[in-house]
Amino acid sequence: MSQNIVYINGQFMPKEKAQVSVMDRGFLYGDGVYEVIPVYNGKLFLFEDHIKRLNYSLEQIRLDVDWSKQQWQQMMENLIEKNGAGNLGLYLQVTRGAAEKRLHTFPEKVTPTVFAMVWTLSEPAQVEDIPPCKVITTEDIRWKRCDIKSISLLGNVLMSQLAREANVDEAFVVNDGIVTEGASSNFFVVKDGRVMTSPGDNRILGGITRKMVIDLLARQGLEVEEKELLLQEVMDADEIWLTSSTKEIRPVIEVDGLAVGDGQPGTLWKQTASLFLEDKKALFYG
Ligand code: PDD
Repeated sequence: MSQNIVYINGQFMPKEKAQVSVMDRGFLYGDGVYEVIPVYNGKLFLFEDHIKRLNYSLEQIRLDVDWSKQQWQQMMENLIEKNGAGNLGLYLQVTRGAAEKRLHTFPEKVTPTVFAMVWTLSEPAQVEDIPPCKVITTEDIRWKRCDIKSISLLGNVLMSQLAREANVDEAFVVNDGIVTEGASSNFFVVKDGRVMTSPGDNRILGGITRKMVIDLLARQGLEVEEKELLLQEVMDADEIWLTSSTKEIRPVIEVDGLAVGDGQPGTLWKQTASLFLEDKKALFYG
């Protein structure tokens, strides 16, 4: 089944029928925020965490949207059902809406534009099916509020394209010698049994998968250190993992053309990814 039904401002309709105004501030200014939520076997994964982050992003850009958690959930569940359920990625975007004139400042009396769509998410059944990743590093060219899940993604787009042209899967971004996250993911490094990730500040998006991995490690009795990671520490790591809602937890086996550890997915990664797959099975297929 093709995932063709979208939600736009109160209605469900085929993608090709959905329209937004050319005056929409999402289109003119990138003035909006978004979420990407995985759906497994027709059910939303970590919905509460995603709505909490959505509300944080909306608050930070000072956009009032009077949807309750229940309203978000109902709309998303309807959208999932109309698209045949299964395993999906769900994209939700809220912009400041369409005003009469193009003015940088907030317009008065505009209605936010709410849009959502889904697509098929391929889901690995076992750790052996999870593809290892290669990454490059590149200077972070984004703004200083990476904690907001803004739809203004030009910096992320340009850095992702660099990775694509280098025939790798992701670009890790470097701020003053410190590697903070990927262009569309967070990352963890393992060195001599220590697990580390960048501090959850304005230089990174506070990933929902990042939080989940921290919890999974706590269950194994491992504490994650949040610390600034120098490029050299990343290059010297025994293991590196990248995390995101669509990629889940993937091992990184190469950075800038050099092998990570012995160039194979690491044992702690395998243990943690297995735990995640087991949890998922119990939650969604149990
Ligand atoms: N990106 N950092 C950045 C810059 C991201 O864009 C993402 C996710 C993450 C990971 O966050 P989470 O675990 O909540 O997915 C970190 C999504 C998937 C995207 O833009 O498509």
